[in-house]
Amino acid sequence: MKALVLFGSPRAVGNTARLCGAFLKGLPKGCEVEIVRLFDFKPAPCNDCGYCKAADGCSKKDLDAFMRSYFDADLIVVATPIYLMSFPAPMKALFDRFQRFYCARFRRGIKTPIPKPKKAVLLLTAGDEAAPGLEMISRQTERAFSVMNTKIVGTVCASGTDAQSVREADLRRAYQLAGSIK
Ligand SMILES: Cc1cc2nc3c(=O)[nH]c(=O)nc-3n(C[C@H](O)[C@H](O)[C@H](O)COP(=O)(O)O)c2cc1C
Repeated sequence: MKALVLFGSPRAVGNTARLCGAFLKGLPKGCEVEIVRLFDFKPAPCNDCGYCKAADGCSKKDLDAFMRSYFDADLIVVATPIYLMSFPAPMKALFDRFQRFYCARFRRGIKTPIPKPKKAVLLLTAGDEAAPGLEMISRQTERAFSVMNTKIVGTVCASGTDAQSVREADLRRAYQLAGSIK
């Protein structure tokens, strides 16, 4: 199994990194893991240039290698803090760039622009105990993945990180979720 981690926190050692680490520990032995740190990667935002309405691909080439990893992956791990009830900006920029696959599907009639099906998990951290952005992020991610042959199979949200570090119970849930993925 190949797992591609979309890591949305700017902090290499923080709450999201802890939660993601627990998940990765729980993956089956032999699983290949590639981590894309979006604050370093800095995907260019979609500027609706219109290229993908007429042709395959994107006018911007910064995601070419990333897309090869995406095509190849079996599991997509979205590990991110909640910012203003949504994603940090680089994650949003990446998901907006999936628009080329929306155009492939619905403008150019390509049935499955991404042939290999993928499972996805959401690993979220939130300062607020009530994690008010959880539903919004889940819906946005579902929408982004709807043209990516990618289905969310599990979510762990570690909330309340303003008051304390990620709880052991949330780390356990992430570890167990990884173990349940076949
Ligand atoms: C710019 C910014 C916006 C934030 N917005 C929210 C929010 O809307 N809801 C929330 O629960 N926490 C919010 N937080 C808190 C983070 O989600 C929380 O501290 C998270 O655990 C940070 O993860 P990290 O340690 O991996 O960076 C925000 C933090 C920042 C820096």
